Amino acid sequence: MVHAALSPVAPKPAHVPDALVYDFDIHADPGLLANPHARILDLLHSAPPVFWTPRNGGGWVALTHAANHEASRDTETYSSEFVPQDRMKALLASLPPGAPHIPQPIPITLDPPEHTKYRQPLQKVFSPKTIAALRDSIRELAAALIEEMKPAGRCEYMAAVAEPLPVQVFLKMLGLPLDRLPEYRAIVKEHMEAIDSDREGSMRRLQKIAAAMRDTVLDRRDNPQDDILSMLWKLEIDGQPTTLADMENYGVLLFIAGLDTVMNGMGLAMRGLATDLPLQRKLRDNPKLIAEAAEEMLRRYTFTVPMRIVKKEAQLAGATLMPGDWLKLFLPAADLDAKEFPQPDVYDLDRENNVHIAFGVGPHRCLGSHLARVELQVLYEEMLARMPEFRLDPDHPTVFHGGHVIGIESLHLVWDV
Ligand code: HEM
Repeated sequence: MVHAALSPVAPKPAHVPDALVYDFDIHADPGLLANPHARILDLLHSAPPVFWTPRNGGGWVALTHAANHEASRDTETYSSEFVPQDRMKALLASLPPGAPHIPQPIPITLDPPEHTKYRQPLQKVFSPKTIAALRDSIRELAAALIEEMKPAGRCEYMAAVAEPLPVQVFLKMLGLPLDRLPEYRAIVKEHMEAIDSDREGSMRRLQKIAAAMRDTVLDRRDNPQDDILSMLWKLEIDGQPTTLADMENYGVLLFIAGLDTVMNGMGLAMRGLATDLPLQRKLRDNPKLIAEAAEEMLRRYTFTVPMRIVKKEAQLAGATLMPGDWLKLFLPAADLDAKEFPQPDVYDLDRENNVHIAFGVGPHRCLGSHLARVELQVLYEEMLARMPEFRLDPDHPTVFHGGHVIGIESLHLVWDV
């Protein structure tokens, strides 16, 4: 287990009643770090559906499916503009000439209608057709990584497969150099870990990400290739050609979204398979079930936690939220809500309703979901076709991490050779 220190306790605002206070640190809760989804099931029983925690700067956490749905769709009340756009525009206009641009992860930090303007051009880049064309090369890479680790009879799965597979696919798609992979991963990790503890430092970290990509971004403007950065230069946003600032805005978002998500989904799912040998057998014998199985895996182990800031007074599942309050959309709990998914802890391929919200819901729904789904399905297919039964290594317990992307630090697996 990672032993992270609990963050300091923030003072409770007057509008928060004692009954809605529940002490939960998304980065360091001991139960979450010991076994995240067991702790999330426990939260659904022990905490109010929307509660206020004094940790991580103080803020609300929405647990239930209904509350997450409502808040995700109501962008007029629950905003993604953590720095309001008028203040951001004034800040950018006040920068001295030649000062480095402050990138904003766009469109995830915008509300409609501005959000729509920037999301729409990106849809083309991540269309099912563009992604389907990558399936064979993803399979080739997955097969190579699996064959490389197989003779040893044991591995640390995150380093052997779950990190290199999606991260290499993504860097290739974007057109970024593969040899800088460790540096890119380190910057994104730093960003994700500091989101709640150092909100002011966010601009500096985003500038660091933009700087790490700048050489390649400029090169693709002058020497277009068959990659996303070259495609982004050719987009028009609101009828205007893309600028370097637009490229950096899109770039930092894709970097954060693409480098830290799929790998954690892969780790959680492989741990799930390693602890459920009958399921492994069933899928190995019936590979046609894998597409459906991948969806139930996403529901059972949903792992991202988007943020919102409250813009106007609102009622959410009995709680009164005030302007300026922070709200965490705790999607991993929404997908384990028994009201929506009976017996939520059971991995059930025959579930009548398997419409999970692991990719979010509403206008910000994940743009990378087609890519993520192909990567996850191909990995399960290749693992089950190429590997004998794999189990958790009893000598090395799994190490988890919390945060806005809940996931796995290390996952030791063993199999017979
Ligand atoms: C299994 C892996 C993934 C999961 C679970 C996931 C989950 C999510 C969620 C929950 C959101 C909504 C955030 C919000 O409401 O504020 C989101 C947005 C987004 N995701 Fe993903 N994501 C995954 C992989 C990816 C990948 C691989 C990419 C790109 C390469 C990507 C690109 C994006 C983008 C661009 C947005 C912002 C969309 C918008 O604001 O309109 N995601 N993702």
